[in-house]
Parts: sequence; C-alpha cells; structure tokens
Amino acid sequence: SKSEIGLIGLGTMGRALALNIADNGFDVAVFNRTTSKVKEFVDDAGELSQRITPTETLAELVAAITPPRAIILMVPAGKPVDDQIEALRPLLDANDMIIDAGNANFRDTNRRAAETGDLAFLGIGVSGGEDGARYGPSIMGGGPKTSWDRVSHILKAIAADHKGEPCATWMGEEGAGHFVKTVHNGIEYADMQMIAEVYGIMRDGFGLGAATISKVFDRWNAGPLQSYLVEISAAVAAAIDPETEGPMLDAIVDAAGQKGTGRWTAIEAQHLAAPIPAIEAAVVARNLSSQRQIRAKGEELFGAAPHRIPHDILGVDQLEEALIAGKIICYAQGFEMIAKASIEFDWSLPLPDIAKVWRAGCIIRSAMLDDMAKALSEDPHRNLMFAPHFAKKLKASHIALRQVVAQAALHGTATPALSSGLAYFDAMRTARGTANMIQGQRDYFGRHGFEHINGSKDQHGPWAD
Ligand code: 6PG
Repeated sequence: SKSEIGLIGLGTMGRALALNIADNGFDVAVFNRTTSKVKEFVDDAGELSQRITPTETLAELVAAITPPRAIILMVPAGKPVDDQIEALRPLLDANDMIIDAGNANFRDTNRRAAETGDLAFLGIGVSGGEDGARYGPSIMGGGPKTSWDRVSHILKAIAADHKGEPCATWMGEEGAGHFVKTVHNGIEYADMQMIAEVYGIMRDGFGLGAATISKVFDRWNAGPLQSYLVEISAAVAAAIDPETEGPMLDAIVDAAGQKGTGRWTAIEAQHLAAPIPAIEAAVVARNLSSQRQIRAKGEELFGAAPHRIPHDILGVDQLEEALIAGKIICYAQGFEMIAKASIEFDWSLPLPDIAKVWRAGCIIRSAMLDDMAKALSEDPHRNLMFAPHFAKKLKASHIALRQVVAQAALHGTATPALSSGLAYFDAMRTARGTANMIQGQRDYFGRHGFEHINGSKDQHGPWAD
C-alpha cells in the first residue's frame, strides 16, 4: 500500500522526523540524494521499518505516496530547498503539497509560496533539535490554512504534547510559520547568551568551578527559571572531558557558531523598527566571540579584565533574580516584534498560541512560557512586561538585574544581553526620555521640525532664523 506522506532529506533531523512519523502509525516514503543513506536508514529503523518505504529516485518517491501527496523537505535551508522543489515540481500533480520543514528564511518561504502556483506549499518551523524531531518537536506552521488542515493530523500527532495539547499550530499565511520560528531562534540566542553571561560572572567574578556552577544551574532549574536551556547548561557544566579529565566546558573554545536565524531576527527587527536590543546583543556577542585573535590582542594591550567580585557585593541568588528579569524582558521584546510583524505583513499572528506552542518540544520551552501564554491570552496587545504577573516579578527582580549589570561593568565582565535588557526596561519605564534633544538637533541642522509639548506639529526652534 502507498504511504501517507513522503520525506526528503535523511540528515539528523530528517531521519528523526521520519522515525517519529512512522512511530505514530503513519506510513512514510523516504528519499535522500545520497541513496546509500536511504538503505542505511531503513536497516537501522528496526520494527519501524515496516512503515517506511525506501525509494531511490524522486519518481519512485512520488509514486509511493497516496495522492494528493504531501512531501516534507528536510534539506539545508537556502538553495538546496529551491533545487529540490525544482526537481520535484514536474513529477507532482496540482494539489500535491510540499512542506519545507527546514530553518528557512521566511522571505524565501513567501517567495516559494508565490512561485509554486497550483502546488500547495507549507513552510513549517520545527524546533527541538534531534530529540525533539524524534519524540515530539514544537511545530510552527505557515501557508494556506486548507493545506495545513490536510496534514495537521500528522503534524499534531508527531508534535510535543503539553498537558494534552499538541504543540503544532498554524500561524498564518505564507512564511508566517518560518517567521515565528526565526523569532523563536532569536529568543533562543538571547536566552543562551544571558545564561552564558551569568556563567561568566560565576566563573570569572566569583571564581567558581564548572562543577559548582552546574549545581547552581540545577538548583535554578527547580525554581522559576525551570527551562530546557538551564537544564542542559547544568549538564554541560557537569560533563568531564575524557581527554583532559577536567570539565568539558573548560576545554571548549569560546567562539559560538551560528547558522543565521538569530541574525535574520535582528535584520527583520530593523526592517520592522521593532526594538529587540537583548536579542540583537546576543547576535553581536556571537559575532564578537568568533574574533578570538583580536580579543587576545586586546587583552594584551588593555590587561585582562574580569576581576573578582567580592561575595558581600554580589551573590548567586542575585544572578538568579537578574536572569528572571532578563528573561521576561527578552521575551517581551520577541513578542513585541511578532506583534509588529503581524500588522506589517497582515498575518494576524496568534500571540497567545505562539506562547503555547513553545511550552513543550522546542529549545526555549520553560515554565515561564505557561505564564506568558496566560498573560498574552488576557491581552495580546500589551507588552508582556506590563502584564500584572510579570510587572510584579520585574518590580522585584530589576534591582538584582541592575546590581548584576553594574558589578559586571565595574569588574570588567561583558554582559551585553543583560545590559541591553536593562536599558530597554529603563527606557520603557521613562515617560519623558531624551529624544527631545535629538529632535532639537535634527531641526537645528536640517530644519526637520519637531512637535512642541503644547501639541503643535512641525515646529522649528529659534535657531531657524
Ligand atoms: C531549534 C533550534 C535549531 C538549531 C538552529 C540554531 O529550535 O531546534 O533553533 O533550529 O539549533 O539551527 O542554530 P545556530 O545556533 O547554529 O544558529
């Protein structure tokens, strides 16, 4: 009998996704450009291989699927996706569907959706790494709602489950799903960066070893900061390097990789004029981290910066509080950006459902997202920091954030994401800021005009004469 769905691309994520589909009782036909991988995959699939049909050509793949067909692409983002669509298109019938499950730039997804014509095209963001793909990812769908509805029973079945609710949600037309996934990754970058910053304070400011730091993360993971990223940070800090027999963490080069999604978030935020400074700072921090030689030269020239922070000045509990504040602030920025995009692209992105779909399966899953979903359900148009639950938390925790950022600055530890998060918070609680000076300057040199506090627009200063 024919398969219900097809999948192209048996890399780490594609393999895991295909096994997940089979495991949930769906027959799946698979294809990979390097065909030896197909056989290998089916040989390793054990019992699940009964539900997997290996194919060696695209035509064979297409023939193995019940029409109207649905085929998932799990190939590297960018040109490989376009190449694959081009190769598939002549083999498909109108109404067949291509589902791009990779980390596509949503602008590419918009374009592909327009280009595929009669073919249905879905762009779905899939988060959760290999384990997520295998046992339940978080899925953010985009494209025609009717196409989503045709395959949503499969996507919901393979998705993570949050207390009985599947984490697979249609976000909107075109590239809406990939857009939401991109912002997810931007938040992921900021979350990871803030954790790395407090790790830096513990290591350089407090002089704590990796094993002790691991215990701190473990403890935090049992409290308000409970999250996948804090959990794995504890595990990463606890691991021992078989070669040096010291902490694995101490043997890892301090240069972060990136495949582009965080950067896209920052670029899109600028297009949208959406203020997401903590996320941008995290992208910048990754860029800076890769400039190892320059940093080494800087240390030679200016002297090593991180100095010990005395224990009576700052402690681990304040770091926890600061991280709570930082996290609320960074998610507030991410959701504000989504809200702006929703208007700009005419998408009606469902903010509360986005928080819900992130509660399980994805990399940024955390206890706090439950409260965020609640706060956004009450009022999706309000900045998350202003929701009573989070306002209360911020009123209590911004003092610690301030202490941490200040002491880090005084002792020479860079905390770009926490610092810019704090600056955002302070800007957002200042009714009268300082842009009056900027407006004065603009008018002075360019007669750009300003609004007077009496309400009159297009005014000029006395310097105009
Ligand atoms: C996820 C992750 C996943 C992956 C990205 C980010 O949600 O499962 O975001 O998509 O980790 O490729 O990777 P970079 O850190 O390399 O940009």
